[in-house]
Amino acid sequence: MKNLRSIEEVSNEEIYTILKRAGEFEEGAPSQLEKDYLVANLFFEPSTRTKTSFETAERKVGATVIPFEAGFSSTLKGETLYDTVKTLEMIGMDAVVIRHKTDAYYDELLEGINVAVINAGDGAGQHPSQCLLDLFTIFKEFGKFEGVNVTIVGDVSHSRVAKSDAEALTRLGANVRILCPSEWQGDFENTYQDWEELLETSDVVMLLRVQHERDAAFEGFTKEGYHEQFGLTVERERRMKKDAIIMHPAPINRGVEIDSSLVECERSRIFNQVRNGVFIRMAIVESILKERKG
Ligand code: NCD
Repeated sequence: MKNLRSIEEVSNEEIYTILKRAGEFEEGAPSQLEKDYLVANLFFEPSTRTKTSFETAERKVGATVIPFEAGFSSTLKGETLYDTVKTLEMIGMDAVVIRHKTDAYYDELLEGINVAVINAGDGAGQHPSQCLLDLFTIFKEFGKFEGVNVTIVGDVSHSRVAKSDAEALTRLGANVRILCPSEWQGDFENTYQDWEELLETSDVVMLLRVQHERDAAFEGFTKEGYHEQFGLTVERERRMKKDAIIMHPAPINRGVEIDSSLVECERSRIFNQVRNGVFIRMAIVESILKERKG
């Protein structure tokens, strides 16, 4: 891979290669990088997990992380994203990891930019590294994607995680079902509005945060009302299949999309996803930097 912009650009074969390499890193395999590469992380939107996870992964594969604070950069003086990225390229970066509120911000970087671009989330567009760590989590659990019933619940219209995950999971043979208020179905078709047909047949229940910062609202929305209708309540968790798992990309709004007591319950993989993210990002960063040798 030369860049990682959208999961749609990553073939099934490349996905399996990344999952395998992440598994090797989890087992303690050393990095294959042979020279010192420079990487900067440009986060123009808030992040706890993704930024720290990328930085950790970059250091673990032996890259040098050059600090960049989006909130104190010349963006505040009106510099365009293109000019910021070109500047970092000229200073000597090999790769930049970018999170930005604009959907497909990377389109303006397709021409004229030679530094590798890794997308850490574009608006309501794509989130390929989260998708790969979600795939890793599911694959470790079930050893396959074919026939696995994955129910994605919540604000899918504004969720870049839902878009990346639904595309990749479907392509890999999983059955993706979407449960959401009809106001939030966006471009998804054949969505469900209640749990009835879904709960007891789900192998994976993937909950999503309501994306208030992207103007997510539906008529009559209250936290309690949402939890009652679409949230994973204690009662619903009891009705889940024996080996079914719970996932959530986080940050979590406890008591809204999931009852607080379920966040670390036995079938929850929410914090495992965070841990898996480091191995996946090591595999992504190593793969992209290896392509830059020479
Ligand atoms: C997600 C994101 O930023 O899209 N978070 C993450 O990267 N783990 C989900 C979210 O913010 O709700």
